[in-house]
Amino acid sequence: MTIGFIGVGKMASAIIAGLKKTEFKILISDSSFEKSKKKAETLGVSFAASHQELIEKADLVVLGIKPQVLPSVLQDLNINKPILSMAAGVSLDRLAELSRTELPIIRIMPNLNAQLFQSCTAICRNDNVSDQLFETAKQITDTFGTTFEIAEKDFDTFTALAGSSPAYIALFIEALTKAGLKHGFSKDLAFNIICQTVLATSQNLLSNGSSPNDLIDRVSSPGGTTIAGLLDLEKTGFTASVVSAIDTTIEKAKNM
Ligand SMILES: NC(=O)c1ccc[n+]([C@@H]2O[C@H](COP(=O)([O-])OP(=O)(O)OC[C@H]3O[C@@H](n4cnc5c(N)ncnc54)[C@H](OP(=O)(O)O)[C@@H]3O)[C@@H](O)[C@H]2O)c1
Repeated sequence: MTIGFIGVGKMASAIIAGLKKTEFKILISDSSFEKSKKKAETLGVSFAASHQELIEKADLVVLGIKPQVLPSVLQDLNINKPILSMAAGVSLDRLAELSRTELPIIRIMPNLNAQLFQSCTAICRNDNVSDQLFETAKQITDTFGTTFEIAEKDFDTFTALAGSSPAYIALFIEALTKAGLKHGFSKDLAFNIICQTVLATSQNLLSNGSSPNDLIDRVSSPGGTTIAGLLDLEKTGFTASVVSAIDTTIEKAKNM
């Protein structure tokens, strides 16, 4: 099976790296012939001379372009192969409208941890996708992380919780790093301490099945330092601020 990628930026490149562990053949077409050639060399895959040539040669067309450029790219193409889209906020119905087809369309929402083959990826399909094609699509998403089959109505929430949250988690790590710097640690030292702690805390939560509140209780001694810091975080509205950011992300995705 040949998988053709139109648009090969950060996300498509990460997905291709995962796919290179499989037997799938990969073909790409980026924003220009030169870019396609160069990226094909870097990624060790084949490239097509045009998007239309890619469509003709591929069995599945993966759209790796930004949502903003989808309408202009799709309006010039005749797509007659199943489509897999990763575009944030673009629904299956909208994709069918833009491609002017009744084709099988699969929608995924990966995150940038695909670069480490650790993406949390949501997947859904329209009514034209056979069970067999859907299984193949899940096989593809499993190559770069864990796949969650969810209803399309939940995609905007998933996008906020898994697609955008790496940026919010990075901001939290940056804030803790700055706090270390303020108190005399080098930025590198503080950064490494925080990253290791975030990683181990996630592993701790996942491995023993305890809830975040259980862990908070275990770390907070009566009258101790952690409870003092926790109360200060809530004084400055930490939980409300995080939930508000997720609300805003979902709202933005709904209006893309
Ligand atoms: N990055 C994430 O964390 C993330 C998470 C979830 C979903 N996504 C989705 O993944 C998709 C790609 O995002 P990204 O972050 O990988 O973006 P990106 O790095 O900007 O990649 C987009 C690629 O599309 C190319 N492109 C632009 N116009 C094109 C055209 N007319 N024909 C073919 N290729 C064209 C760009 O080339 P130029 O550089 O030359 O313009 C670039 O290589 C988006 O739909 C996004 O919503 C991304």
